[in-house]
Amino acid sequence: MKFSTLASSLLALAPFSAAAEIAKRATLTQVNNFGSNPSGVRMYIYVPDNLQAKPPILTAIHYCTGTANAFYTGTPYARLADQHGFIVIYPESPNDGGCWDVSSRATLTRDGGANSNSIANMVTYTISQYDADPDRVFVAGTSSGAMMTNVMAATYPDLFKAASAYAGVAAGCFFTGTVAGWNSSCANGQSIASQDAWAQTALNMYPGYTGSRPKMMIYHGSADATIHPPNFNETMKQWSGVFGYTYGQPQQTLPNTPAAPYTKYVYGPNLVGVYGTGVTHNIPVNGAADMEWFGITGGSTTPTPTSSAVPGGPTTSAPPTEPSGCAAAQWAQCGGNGYTGCKTCASPFKCNFVNDWYSQCL
Ligand SMILES: *[C@@H]1O[C@H](CO)[C@@H](O)[C@H](O)[C@H]1NC(C)=O
Ligand SMILES: *[C@@H]1O[C@H](CO)[C@@H](O)[C@H](O)[C@H]1NC(C)=O
Repeated sequence: MKFSTLASSLLALAPFSAAAEIAKRATLTQVNNFGSNPSGVRMYIYVPDNLQAKPPILTAIHYCTGTANAFYTGTPYARLADQHGFIVIYPESPNDGGCWDVSSRATLTRDGGANSNSIANMVTYTISQYDADPDRVFVAGTSSGAMMTNVMAATYPDLFKAASAYAGVAAGCFFTGTVAGWNSSCANGQSIASQDAWAQTALNMYPGYTGSRPKMMIYHGSADATIHPPNFNETMKQWSGVFGYTYGQPQQTLPNTPAAPYTKYVYGPNLVGVYGTGVTHNIPVNGAADMEWFGITGGSTTPTPTSSAVPGGPTTSAPPTEPSGCAAAQWAQCGGNGYTGCKTCASPFKCNFVNDWYSQCL
C-alpha cells in the first residue's frame, strides 16, 4: 500500500487529526489565539480522555473573583465531562475583580468586541478544532457568570441550544455603559420592568434575528443578599417574553423539585425557573439537572451531583461511615441528606463529600 493511500484511509477513519487537538486530555489547559479577542478574555479548556465523537460543548462561566481553575474544581462539570465525554470551556475574566463585563454597550451587542464576543469566539473555535456537535453547545454560569449566561443567550442565540444560570440577572439589567460596571439598582432588585421591555432588551442585542434560541433554566435563592431575589422574576419575564409564554402563568409549579427547598416553575419546553426558599447567593450547581436539561443524560436514574460554586460554601466534612456488603460504582452517589443507598465505593474510588445532599464516588 502506498503511503498516500494509507494516509488517506487513516484520515477517513479519523474524523479529525490529532494535530487538531489544542489541549492535553483530562487536564485544564489554557488556549491562546482562539480568535479575535480584543477584550483579552483568557480561554481554558477541559477535554476528557473519553471524548465522544462529535462531542457536545459546555461553556462554564465563573463568578466574580473566580477563575477558570476555581470553576473547574468547584463545580461538577469536568467530572461530568469525564463521565459523558463532552468538552468544557472555562473562560476567565480579564477585568479587575474578576467580574464579567455584562454592563457595557459593546458586551450587550452581538460581535461588539467585548467579553461576550470573545466567549463566542472560543466556542466557534472549539467546534471547529474538535469537530464538535454544533447542535449540542451549552452555557452555564454562577452569579456574574449567570449574568453572562443570560447575555450569551441574548447576543449569540444561534450558538447555544440550552443555558443554565445560577443567581444572575436578566440580560441588560446590569447595564451601566462602562466595562464590568456594578449596577446597584439591578443587584438590589430595584430594576423592575415589564415582560415586553425585558424581552425587547434581549432581542435588541441581536436585532433582526429570528432563528432558534437556547432554552433557559434560571435558578435563584430567596435569601440572596448579593443579587436580590426580584431578579428571578425579572429574568423569568425576559425569557417568557422572548419565547411568547405568559409571565406569571407557568404551565406547572412543582414544589420540592428537584428537591426541597426548591420549587420548579415550568413555563414550557424552553423556560424553567428553579427558586430555592432560604437559599443564599451561594446556590449550588446542580450538575445532574443541568445534564438532563442539556439532553446529555436521559434523566432516569442518574445521580445528582451538586456542588458549591461560590467561595464560602460547604467544602469539607467527614465522608459517610462505611456500611458493609455493597460497593457503589465510580460517579455513583455514596451519601447525602436523605440518601439511603450504598455508602461504600468500589475500589479504588473514594466517597467524596460534595455538599450536604450529595457525596460521590470519585
Ligand atoms: C442600571 O440598570 C437599569 C436598568 O436595568 C438602568 O435603568 C440604570 O440606569 C442602570 N444604572 C446605571 C448606574 O447605569
Ligand atoms: C415573583 O412573582 C410572584 C408572582 O408572580 C410573586 O408571588 C413573588 O413574590 C415574586 N418573587 C419575588 C422574589 O419578587
